[in-house]
Amino acid sequence: PFTAELARTGATVAVPAGRTLLDAVREYAPGLEASCENGVCGTCRITVLRGTPEHRDSVLQPAERGRTDVVYACVSRSKSQRLVLDV
Ligand code: FES
Repeated sequence: PFTAELARTGATVAVPAGRTLLDAVREYAPGLEASCENGVCGTCRITVLRGTPEHRDSVLQPAERGRTDVVYACVSRSKSQRLVLDV
């Protein structure tokens, strides 16, 4: 479990095991776009402001998997307790 903080609204939402980050963020940002919801298409890309994402998508190339500035919310999670998102 980790917490997502939505920087634009200041909302924080818990993301327990079994709930996707996408679903959690949509509670406060229902217009957030997604398509495949399977980590493939890249539509659900969110900019990360702080924290360390745990990438589970197939969009980032191997050399990009250490990136901490982006997360694909439909499948990826967080290594840090809190992920601050530009949402
Ligand atoms: Fe396609 Fe997340 S919706 S990668």
